[in-house]
Amino acid sequence: MKVAFFSSRSYDKASFEQLTPNFEHQLTYFEVKLDKDTVYLAQGFDAICTFVNDHLDQNVLKKLVELEVKNIVLRCAGYNQVDLQSAEKLGIRICRVPAYSPEAVAEHALALLMTIVRKTHKAYNRVRENNFSLEGLVGINIHKQTVGVIGTGAIGSAFCKIMIGMGCTVLAYDHYENKHLKTLGVSYVQLAELIAQSSIISLHCPLTTETRHLINKERLAEMQKGVTIINTGRGALIDTKAIIKSLKNKKVGYLGIDVYEQEENLFFRDLSAEILQDEDIARLMTFPNVLITGHQAFLTKESLVEIANITLTNLNELESGIEVTNIIPKP
Ligand code: NAI
Repeated sequence: MKVAFFSSRSYDKASFEQLTPNFEHQLTYFEVKLDKDTVYLAQGFDAICTFVNDHLDQNVLKKLVELEVKNIVLRCAGYNQVDLQSAEKLGIRICRVPAYSPEAVAEHALALLMTIVRKTHKAYNRVRENNFSLEGLVGINIHKQTVGVIGTGAIGSAFCKIMIGMGCTVLAYDHYENKHLKTLGVSYVQLAELIAQSSIISLHCPLTTETRHLINKERLAEMQKGVTIINTGRGALIDTKAIIKSLKNKKVGYLGIDVYEQEENLFFRDLSAEILQDEDIARLMTFPNVLITGHQAFLTKESLVEIANITLTNLNELESGIEVTNIIPKP
């Protein structure tokens, strides 16, 4: 297939180019994000390949059909950016990469957690300036903490196992209970109990209408004082304005986020020479107890190879018309 590859970066190109000799697809890389202004680039292609912040709303999908593009391969797991109902009506087939390396994301959640509670990001800068003072670097143990994990699918399960390994009590909330996790000692509880009992909360559920602002003013009020919140799921799982208030009044002790509610206007680009217009992220960056990474939890060598392999296999299946394993089911 001829494939227009949107939001491409050097690391995407490297991993896909490594594998394309094994597949018969021609990939053309565009750095721009897919939206109503760039959708015209898809003209003449059989499929498009997109990532987390590409727009796949009704208008873009309609335009794709006008351009005779009816196959979309997402090179990510989450699909909250897709208007699935419109895609269904328009007869567009959409595949994703359901799981490439859940451990990569779970390990990044751990990295955020360990960095923020042990302040190694501060220590790194201090030591480089010959400042070996330990004042202000008192951290907390993870061992024996009660960790609440919201969403125990592929990534949440991997995170639960890490926390169990570190000697934590793990509480979980999901619509479905994972029996294996229960044998490891994970206890499924109601969301309200998890919120009230956990000193660390990590978010691993998808962004849906139900989970948007799951962490809001009311739930923050029910949390323990000094709670640590980690979000590698999707930015809008947290009401940003509410968490800023909770950081200001010290209800939230630490916040580690790899995703941000308004990230589509910021992430995956070098804006270091620009004037930051987003007041909320600017405020978040002023807190000493907040750590932000720019949606990099997936970014390991192993994940990139797996994403490329599964995406190219998805294209094979779409082309051959056989049953497509990773097609996103009808809404
Ligand atoms: P998954 O589909 O394996 O698991 C998601 C789990 O969340 C399922 O067990 C599901 O039942 C549960 N869930 C759904 N609605 C829920 C609700 N209202 N409350 C509690 N649990 C609920 O997905 P996976 O692979 O574990 O990924 C989870 C999310 O992580 C993705 O949807 C995506 O948004 C995010 N992600 C972030 C990445 C990053 O680089 N930061 C990379 C990959 C995924």
